[in-house]
Amino acid sequence: MKAVIKATAFALFITGVPSLRTGAEFQIDADTDVGFESFVKEFYISLENTNSTADFTDHFVKDTGVMVVNGKESKGFAAILAAKQSFTNKGKTTNHLLRSANTLGKQEKNETFVVDFILQTTTQPGNACTETTGRGQFTLTTGATSQIELSPHTNFLARYQVDIADSKKTCSVQEEAPPLDPSVASGGVGVIS
Ligand SMILES: *[C@@H]1O[C@H](CO)[C@@H](O)[C@H](O)[C@H]1NC(C)=O
Ligand SMILES: *[C@@H]1O[C@H](CO)[C@@H](O)[C@H](O)[C@H]1NC(C)=O
Repeated sequence: MKAVIKATAFALFITGVPSLRTGAEFQIDADTDVGFESFVKEFYISLENTNSTADFTDHFVKDTGVMVVNGKESKGFAAILAAKQSFTNKGKTTNHLLRSANTLGKQEKNETFVVDFILQTTTQPGNACTETTGRGQFTLTTGATSQIELSPHTNFLARYQVDIADSKKTCSVQEEAPPLDPSVASGGVGVIS
């Protein structure tokens, strides 16, 4: 029997900081370590933040960590950061709406998790929103220890492979998204559900 653990059904965002809106729909398979939830949320928060640099690459194993985006591989902090900046640049907000997570496989020295998400991209100016689907595979290594470490920013991510679908449709994200221009912010802090 498989129970489903629902993610906390709210997200907090502060104006100007990209938010990860998982909502109530994010479900982690019961056989999957629940610690993966906070890891994956923190990973995407720093991926979405255009200002994140070392606080994004520090998820990866030093020197040998790999990020593969639609088949294109980047290895090591400098290459990974350059790849991140090529798809989360200024004038564009990306939101990964996480939907489900499960364990793909466990090896002696690593474990691989899979996350399915909807990717919304909003461009500025114009607030044009397009969305597509994506799947991320996270391979966490045990390193020199006997088990994987699910604390974010601890250099245990050996490989992040993501495949983003080609298909795109327009979306309406404005009612949920934090205002990109701080001058139009009303309350400063918003709560969405
Ligand atoms: C990124 O840094 C710039 C310059 O300090 C700042 O204006 C902007 O609000 C920051 N963006 C985020 C998402 O924190
Ligand atoms: C995970 O472990 C397997 C078996 O040892 C190995 O073949 C594979 O390369 C490892 N994956 C990563 C990303 O390190």
